[in-house]
Amino acid sequence: MFTFAQITDFHISMPEGMADRTYQTARHLRVAVAHLNGLPQRPEFVLCTGDLVDRGGDEEYALLADILGQLTMPFYLIPGNHDDRAAMRRAFPGHAYLAGHDGFMQYTIEAWEPRLIALDTLIPGEPGGRLCPQRLDWLHERLGEQPDRPTIIFMHHPPFRTGLTKMDNAGLEDNAGLVGIVRRHAQVEAVLAGHVHRFITRRFAGTVAMTAPGPAHQVDLNLGAEEKLSLIMEPPAGLLHLWLGGDDGLVSHVSYTGGCYQGVTVFADGQWIRDAPPLAPSIPLP
Ligand SMILES: [Fe+2]
Repeated sequence: MFTFAQITDFHISMPEGMADRTYQTARHLRVAVAHLNGLPQRPEFVLCTGDLVDRGGDEEYALLADILGQLTMPFYLIPGNHDDRAAMRRAFPGHAYLAGHDGFMQYTIEAWEPRLIALDTLIPGEPGGRLCPQRLDWLHERLGEQPDRPTIIFMHHPPFRTGLTKMDNAGLEDNAGLVGIVRRHAQVEAVLAGHVHRFITRRFAGTVAMTAPGPAHQVDLNLGAEEKLSLIMEPPAGLLHLWLGGDDGLVSHVSYTGGCYQGVTVFADGQWIRDAPPLAPSIPLP
């Protein structure tokens, strides 16, 4: 029995960048890292499921590497739509797995049971995600290698509609290929994703899929609204996955990482509106 953590959608920006000015993303990630290091159920490793930085520049990745370097356990990265593969590789030269396969940052982690498989949904320059035949073929081959070993897939874009319309419009292009493959491989215990800055879960292709909340800003729970997207400082969090193994499998918990604020940013009528009151910490940050 052991735990591993999933944190996602850090959107690290430089101090003058919008994400840092509005949501203090770097500071929140530092708080999340301290939280994970201090957990009594110390995670064996940490999955970082994309949108690691906000603009994809080298400076942002250098700051990210500095913050994640404080983790006292191994961590693994995949890209989200805000990321740049080449800049990620430059910033994390010790992470050889980022070389990936055919240019995509897809890899397996074999050190633990369950086995972990990373998928790369990035389409450079676009908010939505894609699993092209090349990426899906690779997944199908990997799953065929060890059909009896419990396996967890992790990726940035969730492979299901969430009801958050504006996020769904920037979601995974087509999930049919992934559904077809996962259905044929009963060893898949879960599919873990990010992108939507909320905890959401559903039955998926014979397994369970879920998304993790963010360590800074969340997407407001606003179901069915066509145009409106609000980013809100609900309590920052990540997921703490508990591997019980055997018939008990994987159990996933929300773990609040600290640094709770009030304040809101709203996307409405085609533009961002930032007339919310100044961020007021309800829990002091270090
Ligand atoms: Fe994203």
